[in-house]
Amino acid sequence: MKLIILSFTIILMSLNSIANENSQQSPLASHKTTNTEYPGAKLYVDRGCVACHGDDANTPNQPQYPKLAGQNKKYTIAQINDIKNGLRNNGQSIVMRGTIIVDHDEIDNIAEWLESLPIDIVADKLKTKGAELFKRKSCNTCHGDDAKSSSLSVYPKLAGQNKIYSLAQMKDIKNGNRDGGNSAAMQGILYGVNEQDMVIISEWLESLTEKNESSLNNVLDE
Ligand code: HEC
Ligand code: HEC
Repeated sequence: MKLIILSFTIILMSLNSIANENSQQSPLASHKTTNTEYPGAKLYVDRGCVACHGDDANTPNQPQYPKLAGQNKKYTIAQINDIKNGLRNNGQSIVMRGTIIVDHDEIDNIAEWLESLPIDIVADKLKTKGAELFKRKSCNTCHGDDAKSSSLSVYPKLAGQNKIYSLAQMKDIKNGNRDGGNSAAMQGILYGVNEQDMVIISEWLESLTEKNESSLNNVLDE
């Protein structure tokens, strides 16, 4: 076990230095993690989150890894703790569990910084077939019509999320592989949602924000 953790740490350190090199080359991408207003921005880099979730927390290095930018603070804290202590064990959670060492205050700070990042929605996408299906299946009652105004702050924002990730989570919540936190609140709804519906909805969710390049441009304009 120690050996596994050690090799994970080495991989992480090298990923980290690649990420640092990239951010040195691109002032654009490092803009948000260099924000000194939030101690969480630096912690996010120091604790290696950047290696998997990207230097703007919005461009993960694998399409099946989640975007974190803009997420509700309470939801983020709950998920990091659930993944850390094994209550959430679905999908690729183990990859993260093996690599993170963060304490309570650090989690709180990182989550606060993540929540401060914007999720900019393309308004036209709220009038599409995907939007209609999202309402017809009552997803909006908890996640909001725009998929980013959750009814409770412990419920996640979904707008802009990678479609591969969203689809996997819906399936895992439906079949019980993901049963941590408040997943039970959602599971019942999914009996009436088939795989084709889930595909349409996850594609719609991803389409709600512009591709990452332009969201980085928005940051420059700020
Ligand atoms: C080695 C890669 C890796 C590292 C390092 C990593 N994560 Fe993750 N993280 C993941 C993966 C993979 C998932 C999704 C697990 C799944 O498949 O369900 C995840 C999920 C999450 C989630 C849940 C997202 C959601 O929408 O439910 C949060 C929050 C999160 N990570 C935050 C962090 C933070 C903060 C750090 C640094 C302390 C970190 N991660 C480090 C890979 C990583
Ligand atoms: C009764 C409230 C409720 C309803 C209705 C609901 N959800 Fe959820 N959803 C949740 C909660 C709570 C979670 C987070 C579970 C946890 O705490 O780990 C979640 C998680 C998710 C996730 C994973 C997000 C992430 O970042 O990992 C996706 C995707 C999702 N919901 C999509 C949907 C879709 C699509 C529908 C409609 C078919 C729907 N939800 C209906 C409450 C709900």
